[in-house]
Amino acid sequence: TVIEERCPENLTDAAAAPTASGRTAPRVLMCRPEHFTVSYRINPWMYPQQPTDTSLALRQWQELYRTYQGLGFQVELIDPEPGLPDMVYAANGGFTLDGVAYTAKFRHAERGPEGPAYGAWFGAHGFQVAEAVSVNEGEGDFMLVGDTIFAGTGFRSDDASHDELRSIFDREVVTLRLVDPRFYHLDTAFAVLDPAGGPASVAYLPSAFDEASLAILRTRFPDAILATQADAEVLGLNSFSDGCNVVIASRAETFARDLTDRGFRPHGVDLSELLRGGGGVKCCTLVLR
Ligand code: ARG
Repeated sequence: TVIEERCPENLTDAAAAPTASGRTAPRVLMCRPEHFTVSYRINPWMYPQQPTDTSLALRQWQELYRTYQGLGFQVELIDPEPGLPDMVYAANGGFTLDGVAYTAKFRHAERGPEGPAYGAWFGAHGFQVAEAVSVNEGEGDFMLVGDTIFAGTGFRSDDASHDELRSIFDREVVTLRLVDPRFYHLDTAFAVLDPAGGPASVAYLPSAFDEASLAILRTRFPDAILATQADAEVLGLNSFSDGCNVVIASRAETFARDLTDRGFRPHGVDLSELLRGGGGVKCCTLVLR
């Protein structure tokens, strides 16, 4: 599927600058939350003593799935495995580019088996699989903007994984250091609004980064949307965009307005139950490139 232009009728010239026509619709991998629950605590959002509602999680996830399909995205599914309640957060399953899948190697033992599970899927679906040596949590921490991979560290992915990315993909890799434990993956504090890149192509939460990383973000993205604390705290930045349509947490109201002002089309989805595991829209979405 080819999306003709990026929001042609409501973009200002400035916002339209990085647009290349003929963009292909995203192809993504998702995992139904059939076994979702919160049975351990590996981030500050998780409270294992509080009961979860798996059927609600499934209904909310289904809404995200339908939203993607409605936008023309190609959605692939990986089978959920019992005993891996966080497998729904597909973004952590690896990082793909140029038909190569760099596998995840999880920080915490509870998620360890997800690495091989996703790795097997990549291998069975035409990807060349590059087995990770370093601890890394895939697209949770690695985000492609234009031709540059922005790579998070500080909580989950090791610095050494950034070197691995460099040697596997032969792209520029820019390290960003996270400092707030609530925003433990890059995709909780940084959103790619236009995969083609450009000065206004991302949104981020400044307080989630150390000073050196902030300086990089300001230089590379002088016209970025700066998220409010309130929107970041509902994981509003944990969003997914095709360059025009941005699927976000429905509770991130300021973010939605800012997106509209800049010519994007926000689509709100309520993933409140999955937020209890510390994840949102982007966490449930792994891009297949
Ligand atoms: N409970 C999961 C963890 O802490 C949530 C992962 C969210 N995924 C993401 N891409 N941020 O690992």
